[in-house]
Amino acid sequence: MFITFEGGEGTGKSVQAGLLKDFFLSAGVDVVLTREPGGTPFAEEIRKTLLTGEPDKITPLTEALMYLVARADHWERKIKPALNAGKVVISDRFHDSSVVYQGICKGVDINMLNMVYSYITNNQEPDRTYLIDLAPEIGLARSLARDNSETRFEKMDISFHRKVREAFLELAHKYPNRYLVLDGSLPIAAIQELIRNDLSDFS
Ligand code: TYD
Repeated sequence: MFITFEGGEGTGKSVQAGLLKDFFLSAGVDVVLTREPGGTPFAEEIRKTLLTGEPDKITPLTEALMYLVARADHWERKIKPALNAGKVVISDRFHDSSVVYQGICKGVDINMLNMVYSYITNNQEPDRTYLIDLAPEIGLARSLARDNSETRFEKMDISFHRKVREAFLELAHKYPNRYLVLDGSLPIAAIQELIRNDLSDFS
């Protein structure tokens, strides 16, 4: 099973993904927790360059291609082998982040993004995607309060982050069978409970 977490900055994706991993571990399930951009040594190198520096240091197209390069390595070296071995894979962000950030919000051709994605994965999609939805004002404040040098996207203005939020909600609406939207303003434990309940219904 392949599970992804999506959402804007500071919505609590990483915390929820970590708690979900613990839940699977305690149930004796073999699970891999990973993230994008990153997840493999090569993709983590690309992450560093993508998430640091000034917002306009590379163009949207170059940026989109870099995310896809990182995704190809991540898919081939980590996600696909784990899924083939029967493990549960949880990824903190995945291709929908490219569709939202580079596609819908920065105007890169979404068909191109999806075509390359399908080529990389042979059309395999996540089984379940949890969108943690939160007002960007709250998410950004949380994100900037963290001790973090990866602030290239946090430097974009608030209207960009509002667009990101709307774009994720649009995707969730487009793929209702894959997506579950969760209210990111709920307590951490309450969100995790909703996810676990959803998974028990799902499986
Ligand atoms: P991350 O550390 O996941 O963000 P968060 O602040 O939510 O913990 O940083 C990833 C950043 O990269 C985030 O700003 C979104 C962006 N991104 C894209 O623009 N496209 C992509 O395909 C991916 C995977 C991430």
